[in-house]
Amino acid sequence: MADLENRIPCLTNKFIEIYGVPPQTIVRAPGRVNLIGEHTDYNDGYVLPIAIDRDILIGAAPSAEPTVCLYSVNFDRISMFSLDDIMRDPINDWSDYPRGVAYMLQKRRKKIGGANLVIQGDIPLAAGLSSSAALEVASAMAFQALDEFEMSGPEMALLCQAAENEFVGVNCGIMDQFISRLGRKNHALFIDCRTLEHEAVPLPEDGIKVIVADTLKKRGLVDSEYNVRRAQCEEAVSILRTYLPSIKALRDVTAPDFRRYGRELPPTVRRRAEHVIMENSRVLESVEALRHGKLALFGRLMNQSHESLCDKYEVSCRELNALAEAAWRIPGVYGSRMTGAGFGGCTVSLVAADAVEEFLERVPAEYRARIGVTPSVYVCTPEGGAEVLMNEPQEA
Ligand code: GLA
Repeated sequence: MADLENRIPCLTNKFIEIYGVPPQTIVRAPGRVNLIGEHTDYNDGYVLPIAIDRDILIGAAPSAEPTVCLYSVNFDRISMFSLDDIMRDPINDWSDYPRGVAYMLQKRRKKIGGANLVIQGDIPLAAGLSSSAALEVASAMAFQALDEFEMSGPEMALLCQAAENEFVGVNCGIMDQFISRLGRKNHALFIDCRTLEHEAVPLPEDGIKVIVADTLKKRGLVDSEYNVRRAQCEEAVSILRTYLPSIKALRDVTAPDFRRYGRELPPTVRRRAEHVIMENSRVLESVEALRHGKLALFGRLMNQSHESLCDKYEVSCRELNALAEAAWRIPGVYGSRMTGAGFGGCTVSLVAADAVEEFLERVPAEYRARIGVTPSVYVCTPEGGAEVLMNEPQEA
């Protein structure tokens, strides 16, 4: 966030260079890291993410033509599309996110006009920090600023999720778009992914830091395995419904119900269901722990979440385990776990402020010794969700 002061003028200059006029509006949408509640969102469950100080900025201005022109500073590429027939761009696949948002806006009968956009971001790509969700949300914010349609925060998050599901073709849950749109500074957001009720839970401002460590592993398996996990959860629900006819999702299965009927599930499906059911209770417990300043308990729940994702849900990997285990060995680390879909990406650690230095020294060194790669490590601050930074509509 601190360097927004530099990034905004750079974005404005780039905009003038490409389009010959300054942008009418500048918006930002952040990436996210999930503290706890993994693979629960698509089971109608609970999550507790934070928006982070890494984001996508978009500068935008209306254009006279019924086309949208996108320029990506990061890729130094232009991609254009007609609003009359929005299709994917296989050469510039980064542009599919704004394209998908425009497509969904039209599908929901929001009137949008032609526009020129410049996109710049500092969220590491393909690291599991939701750069795609941030790009979707930033695009929706830009169109909203230009075209002035009504849309609540939750409605925008749902629209961006639909763009990703229906247009881009990735079957994600609601967490990433929701936190990018509705995060709150210095808070984690406790989200009920069924009702979309949400509550900002304060994080202590002094004394603790959130550290994200990136394995730098390519997440090759993530999309196919993600869909397999979703299908296994659905299978669990359909079998358990024989005994518990009122359940709609794994969110509705209590721990005592599971102890009773879990044995009816095939072994792999049983392990997947157990993770989701116990992870939901861990989120509820961790929100209480945070409210009462019980950071040690919160950290233990994070560690349990990691173990369950590793052993029961089987979405961790050698690299994620190496990072989490290195963190666990440092006194002053409350908890550490893989975050996001898995198979690579990042860990998130909750660290006492006076242990940060040791963390930054030891975790990358141990990871390098075990895996042979130096991980990227970021000390993150919990930021607010998407916002309009500037909007100066021109007189017609
Ligand atoms: C990805 C998806 C989210 C969520 C997580 C796992 O980030 O986009 O919707 O399912 O994986 O918790």
